[in-house]
Amino acid sequence: MRIAVIPGDGIGVDTTVEAVKAIRAVGDVFGRSFDLEMLPWGADYFLKTGITMPSDGYAMLRDQFDAVFIGALGDPRVPDNRHARDILLGTRFELDLYVNYRPVKLLDQRLCPLKERTTQDVNFVVFRENTEGLYVSIGGRFKAGTEDEVAIQEEVNTYKGVHRIIRHAFEFASTHGRRSICMTDKSNAMAQGHALWQRVFKEVALQYPGIEARHLYIDALALCLVQNPAQFDVIVTNNLFGDIITDLGAALQGGLGMAASGNLHPGKTSMFEPVHGSAPPLAGKNVANPMGAILSAALMLDYLGLAPEAAAVDAAVQAAVMAGHGTRDIGGSLGTAEAGDRIAALIHR
Ligand code: IPM
Ligand code: MN
Repeated sequence: MRIAVIPGDGIGVDTTVEAVKAIRAVGDVFGRSFDLEMLPWGADYFLKTGITMPSDGYAMLRDQFDAVFIGALGDPRVPDNRHARDILLGTRFELDLYVNYRPVKLLDQRLCPLKERTTQDVNFVVFRENTEGLYVSIGGRFKAGTEDEVAIQEEVNTYKGVHRIIRHAFEFASTHGRRSICMTDKSNAMAQGHALWQRVFKEVALQYPGIEARHLYIDALALCLVQNPAQFDVIVTNNLFGDIITDLGAALQGGLGMAASGNLHPGKTSMFEPVHGSAPPLAGKNVANPMGAILSAALMLDYLGLAPEAAAVDAAVQAAVMAGHGTRDIGGSLGTAEAGDRIAALIHR
């Protein structure tokens, strides 16, 4: 298995070290070796070379690796964060990773900010469309910097794009014992683009009669997620709404440090990253929570067909959380490296 590892910027570097530790530990336990190739792309590399991503970078990721792991990107020394756009969004687009898979699972009741919610109440997955929507960078600024400025950012919704993510959500539900899917959009206000979501959702739902198909407008969904998260099983939505509600989801599971994600094109080289950002003020201070990164590594192992290895990593994180062996953001007293060591030591067959 060849895995490209891009630690990136800020705490992405700190948490990626721990994810790599977990991958090596699970490799030792299961007698498997992983060929991890570290790629230096990030703000430092850009500031030194002027290159965000080498011109053959995407082809290299796609053709030479089985999976890609990214820590986090973003640095105040690159004010427009163009390196982050090229490396993170570029990889999503160029590798056509149309599924952004973000499980929201509360591992311990005490991590949930909502009163009296148990681990049974917070256990859903979000499928975020990852290759179009408002992220396509179509638009422009007219008379920029003046009082007459006009700024346009177009949202692209295609039949192919909407269909493949909705289809994936239903397929996932039917193969993972999930009973209901909620599609969320803003078709009451965005009557053109989101009418397509309505149409396709109804069309695909007919093919899965065993799965309950619901719809909520995005504002109502935000309300319901806080009032009663237990009603959600699978959520499917567009790129921007998925970005926003998965931060809300991260809050429900104990914060951004706990949240994992996969950027997938089923059957092709896919990319895995914690949901957290680069958090420049925390970088290098041994305080970042590595669990989201380690859980993202578990998603990667699972995607690579190593389900027992993935389960062993998940179980180790679960055990560390239960034992209170975590960083301060989740009420523990360990540093990033110590939490990572503890989790690596808890990986068993
Ligand atoms: C995420 C992040 C990115 C996004 C940023 C860094 C561009 O917030 O992965 O959720 O908006 O997709
Ligand atoms: Mn985000």
